[in-house]
Amino acid sequence: MAEEQVRRFYSAHFKEEWYRLIRSPYARLEFDTTVHFLDKYLERRKLLILDAGGGPGRYAVELARRGHHVVLVDPVSENLRFAEKQVKRSKLRGEVGPMVEASIEDLSVFPDGMFDVTLCLTPLSHVLEPGQREKAVSELLRVLKPQGLLFASAIGRLPCLVLALENGFKLSGLASARELRDTGNFQGEKVFTRFHGFLPEELKRLFEGIGGLRVLEIAGLDGLGSTHSRAVNAVARDPRAWKFWLETHYTTCTEPSVIGLSEQVLLIAQKH
Ligand SMILES: C[S@@+](CC[C@H](N)C(=O)[O-])C[C@H]1O[C@@H](n2cnc3c(N)ncnc32)[C@H](O)[C@@H]1O
Repeated sequence: MAEEQVRRFYSAHFKEEWYRLIRSPYARLEFDTTVHFLDKYLERRKLLILDAGGGPGRYAVELARRGHHVVLVDPVSENLRFAEKQVKRSKLRGEVGPMVEASIEDLSVFPDGMFDVTLCLTPLSHVLEPGQREKAVSELLRVLKPQGLLFASAIGRLPCLVLALENGFKLSGLASARELRDTGNFQGEKVFTRFHGFLPEELKRLFEGIGGLRVLEIAGLDGLGSTHSRAVNAVARDPRAWKFWLETHYTTCTEPSVIGLSEQVLLIAQKH
């Protein structure tokens, strides 16, 4: 069952969520780097993909454009309705669906081993109870075919502390920043919604601890420039400097020190 506060937040922000990944060069790094790793690992034949917590459907549309069939799950009906419209607008109706209202903690509407690939891009960060996160990972694994691939991204814990530092802890408050530092949980409603920020090793342990999955790679999606959105956006206006920065980003985004400071971390795993 998805958290009530989280559902309320996304019910009110489905449109912002659709534009979130393209609103600036900095934001686009998260999207482009995720797609970069999807392209690296996905076979070129038509695959059946579950986009769990797919929100308004930006990745679902992108993958359908690449010729795959995507089933979208999200607990927020506003997201699903908006995704339906985007799919129709993109003329990809036959390639995305059904759209199912459900939480990653209970994917029982799907049989074991149904999907070639499962995506879970951010939702694990909105499950605050550790036991429920394990249940969610077990579900994502259960619905995957043997040798199937799992792509999961989550919010990084340390960069959130850097962002809180940048505004002198005025937005988060010191008590929330302390809880974030010590437990990973952030209770905020003033800024965003409740989430769990992961340390990279913690994310890896969550996936390896479940048994049946091998972690292939971990990457920082906003990478070395993470939390420096203003500088990254400024450099993007100079084509030569931007080319250099993208090269630098892709050569360093799998470095452990970069992953630890990334706002979003992507983990890629394979089912045994
Ligand atoms: C930051 S958005 C990301 C949406 C999409 N995956 C993307 O990357 O564009 C987080 C999404 O997680 C969904 N979510 C939150 N809790 C969830 C849960 N327990 N199960 C499935 N999805 C959940 C929200 O409804 C929202 O669509």
